[in-house]
Amino acid sequence: MTFSAVDIITTKRDGGELTDEAIEWMLNAYVAGSVADEQVSALLMAIFFQGLTPRELAHWTDVMIASGERLDLSSLSRPTVDKHSTGGVGDKISLILTPLVAACGAAMPQLSGRGLGHTGGTLDKLESIPGWRAQLSNEEALAQLEEIGAVICAAGPGLAPVDRKLYALRDVTGTVESIPLISSSIMSKKIAEGTQALVLDVKVGRGAFIKTIERARELATTMVALGTSHGVATVAQLTSMNQPLGVAVGNALEVLESVDVLRGAGPEDVRELTLSLARTMLGLVGIDVDPATKLDDGTAYEVYCAMIAAQGGDPGADLFPAAHHHVVTAPHDGIVQSVDALGVGVAAWRLGAGRARKEDPVSAGAGVKCLVREGDYVVAHQPIFELYADDEEHLERGMATIANAVTLGEHPAPVEPILIERIGA
Ligand code: URA
Repeated sequence: MTFSAVDIITTKRDGGELTDEAIEWMLNAYVAGSVADEQVSALLMAIFFQGLTPRELAHWTDVMIASGERLDLSSLSRPTVDKHSTGGVGDKISLILTPLVAACGAAMPQLSGRGLGHTGGTLDKLESIPGWRAQLSNEEALAQLEEIGAVICAAGPGLAPVDRKLYALRDVTGTVESIPLISSSIMSKKIAEGTQALVLDVKVGRGAFIKTIERARELATTMVALGTSHGVATVAQLTSMNQPLGVAVGNALEVLESVDVLRGAGPEDVRELTLSLARTMLGLVGIDVDPATKLDDGTAYEVYCAMIAAQGGDPGADLFPAAHHHVVTAPHDGIVQSVDALGVGVAAWRLGAGRARKEDPVSAGAGVKCLVREGDYVVAHQPIFELYADDEEHLERGMATIANAVTLGEHPAPVEPILIERIGA
């Protein structure tokens, strides 16, 4: 059946419901190049304002999945479970969680992306390890999952390829922050990846792209419903992203901190969030192992080393912060009221840890160490941030951005729990 793109756009613009056939026609015609970018842009904007009904969203997601390949992980001898984070500052959890969950007996196929803007990408972090290779064929990823149980690699172009086109268009048309468009984008890729179970870490707060608990709840509920209706056991955890996660923000800095946690040490908030996600994931696939024991006895670290080595990396290689260094100190005594995750993320980005355009290179050693947390008492001249960059120009850009990222006050600051709420199963 042939449709008119203009009719589809005006139906949605005026609050109508699209038929399954209309959705299928529009997305397939877009992939085929017979519907123009400006027409799909108009439809995305109409969806941004009018939303999609649950039936429309389910079908929109189905068509996105069907636009590419669907991995079959059913030959693996371990249950499969994955995690997706909506992105936060200092969020290095995948680096620790993937080998940890594997050490507990599951297989975790963590197909990841690179960072854009102020939140870092998992692949960028691992690429600070000499020799490590992000690109694996499906066969290589499957063999590594069977042997080691842990893979972190680039999501291949074959998974939900229409999402690449749609996402690029959303990025330049102000239509990223739409709950049905975000949900279908994330869940189509995770469903196509073939995992049996999925835990969503939905970040909420200053450093997240969802700022309010109500929006986070709506996004989480929508994604959980999509996963569940596609046969993927899905749970969402709403977690706080007001202050950065852990101390380190930046590629090599975050790898070093992840290794500390994998060796049973590291910042308490990183360990707590990793264990909470691991427990939920293991619960979904019926594995009754306490993941804390695998951090503390070194097993998770052994799996990490095997996972890195299998992709050509040297897990024992020394990683160093960038050579140009500056310490920011407290202007006076006080109690830390807030550490602005967004400010720190943007500073790390300007120091060179992130990219403005997807083809830009990133610096391995650039970044920020956050030496204080909300609720800490600090004295005048105490170091609060350490900044690292490859040259003075980047260092100065980072210094200018981070200047107001910590607020000091006189009153005790309430310390927020990291896990706010769980949605699903
Ligand atoms: N991540 C995705 O993969 N898609 C979105 O729409 C937003 C975040």
